[in-house]
Amino acid sequence: MAGRKGSSSELGFIHQFVSAADRSDHMTLLLLHGTGGNERDLIPLGQELYPTAALLSPRGKVLESGMPRFFRRLAEGVFDIEDLKFRTHELADFVEKSSKVYGFDLRHVICIGYSNGANIASSLLLLRPEVVSSAVLFRAMVPFLPEKVPNLTTKNIFMGAGEHDPIVPREQTEMVYRMYKKAGAKVLLHWEKDSGHELGYDEISAAKEWLANLPIK
Ligand code: MLT
Repeated sequence: MAGRKGSSSELGFIHQFVSAADRSDHMTLLLLHGTGGNERDLIPLGQELYPTAALLSPRGKVLESGMPRFFRRLAEGVFDIEDLKFRTHELADFVEKSSKVYGFDLRHVICIGYSNGANIASSLLLLRPEVVSSAVLFRAMVPFLPEKVPNLTTKNIFMGAGEHDPIVPREQTEMVYRMYKKAGAKVLLHWEKDSGHELGYDEISAAKEWLANLPIK
């Protein structure tokens, strides 16, 4: 396993950085946890999904009843859009600064987001697409509808949705899918059978295979 380098808040976010196990691999996974998670939660998932990539894992800065999140919400599924946009730029700036400090290639950053983390990953794709080359979005919702559809023709997106998710209804998932198709992205939507909001085994395997076959290497 490669050396674990960063774990401070100097770059503006408490985070962990794990350098690439294989230094010839230029990929970095930006790991974005769900509500109540932290910078350690998705490290094992990142290592499972893409064992040779570097990992950058920030902790969301907003607290909701003590639970870290990446942006504020007014109620379940009702987002504070102003805060979401502000936090999106703050996160993108952190990724840019981190790439200089840790020396990873900003052109090869793959977002892996779960739930609240998938929602800010979507917002990054809409507002700051230059810091995301591809994304794996588990249980994503529409963060907001952009006034102008961005050009995402160079982006590859894997979506993992639960067939019985009580938080993300089927129509939400289909709206996210259509939003990305309209923006020109290459999107694969995986429906996890008998699954709710929690991650399932099959979608992790499917995302791993999808990542292994990404054209940008
Ligand atoms: C969100 O708030 O981003 C979504 O409702 C999912 C969640 O984090 O519970």
